[in-house]
Amino acid sequence: MSTPGKIHVGGQDLELPVIEGTEGEKAVDISALRGTTKYITLDQGYGNTGSCTSKITFIDGEKGILHYRGYSIEELCEKATFVEVCYLLIHDKLPTQAELDEFNELLDKYSLVHEAMLHLINHFPYDAHPMNVMGCLVQALSSFYPGVDAKSKTEHINLTAARLIAKTRAFAALAYRKSKGFPLVYPNKGEDYGSNFLRMMFDTPVKHYEPDPDMVKAMNILLILHADHEQNCSTSTVRLVGSSHANLYASVASGIAALWGPLHGGANQSVMEMLQNIKDKGLGIEQVINKAKDKDDPFRLMGFGHRVYKNFDPRARIIKDLCRKILLKNANSDPLLDLAIELEDKVLADDYFIERKLYPNVDFYSGLLYRAMGFPVNMFTPIFTVGRMPGWIAHWKEMVSEPGGKIGRPRQIYTGYTNRSYPDISERK
Ligand code: CMC
Repeated sequence: MSTPGKIHVGGQDLELPVIEGTEGEKAVDISALRGTTKYITLDQGYGNTGSCTSKITFIDGEKGILHYRGYSIEELCEKATFVEVCYLLIHDKLPTQAELDEFNELLDKYSLVHEAMLHLINHFPYDAHPMNVMGCLVQALSSFYPGVDAKSKTEHINLTAARLIAKTRAFAALAYRKSKGFPLVYPNKGEDYGSNFLRMMFDTPVKHYEPDPDMVKAMNILLILHADHEQNCSTSTVRLVGSSHANLYASVASGIAALWGPLHGGANQSVMEMLQNIKDKGLGIEQVINKAKDKDDPFRLMGFGHRVYKNFDPRARIIKDLCRKILLKNANSDPLLDLAIELEDKVLADDYFIERKLYPNVDFYSGLLYRAMGFPVNMFTPIFTVGRMPGWIAHWKEMVSEPGGKIGRPRQIYTGYTNRSYPDISERK
């Protein structure tokens, strides 16, 4: 039993309940604060604010721990498939063989893309960013398959979850193929999700693509590592949009928009662009590090730092090893990988980064791995999207299934003009 938090604010003493999570995390519940004192809390960037309680994902940023539904990310990467992890996140249990077979059947069935959606894709400019195409197509699903919202039955939500996980893969592959002018490839029935994704990306009528087992394994691990990350920017967006009772498709489409930003999922593309720029311009590593430390320069080292991880990002560690393995297997060396390793070594020895606990995050090495697997740079964030889809769905489902859910609506402290009188247009300057 936790001791209540006592605060003295606005001349009043207030006892606030403390909520404790199953892993020992503690929060002061301030629900009564404004009603009693007229004060609100101000927490720009929400670094100290819990927006909900959740049973899906646990992160200990100091120890570098990441668990989905109680299972460690390391064990899931070693033993599970991405589809099992999707099921785990959405259903709160690992599937039995029969449940897994049924789920896989749904993923095959729902991979079909409505022909009218192909017309939508064809009207994008050929060089449209795949994230934009995906966001638009996922949003459009609300019109093609209407009716899944906060009041929907669980079975309907579960079917929609399968539809979204199947269609997101198809949309990502389609967006890429459209940019190349290649025809659409459908998955092979009964083949695993990762192999099919690689085939849907790379197979052509004139060059058959046979997925390599190591590439399939890497794809599986990459998708698992991205599957959920509790209340990050895109997941919080999905929850906020969903809290207005927007339908599931509209809610996750808003997540795609948030993920695209370079401070979030778009960082994997930015890391590669940064490394390429360093190489092309022959910049020295010291010079780049100094630029990142200069407070008058907006430049940041992409792929470093994290709001929650203050020791290491366990996802980055797994991806770094995998990246080396895939490059070794292909007997390739990548000058950008050598550059990345040199940059990491120097950053980890630099006081600025040590003091601020800035370590490589998941995006630092994921781009190099995608590149080693043959993905073009603009597909990096779309792959992140395919991986994150089950997490967004699980959070939306958890939120709408909770009794007494409230619309998300933060407050603000107004700092603008007060009481101005309206001037005639002839008097305005
Ligand atoms: N390069 C240089 N300085 C940095 C960096 C960086 N990458 N990240 C943080 N800092 C500094 C920052 O300037 C600040 O310094 P000071 O205390 O002197 O003002 C201090 O470290 C704390 O930074 P912050 O911006 O308050 O930290 P945050 O928790 O608000 O931001 C972050 C987290 C991930 C947005 C930020 O570290 C960043 O911009 N990193 C680069 C972009 C990136 O790699 N994003 C991917 C994140 S992981 C995957 C995902 O979320 O999708």
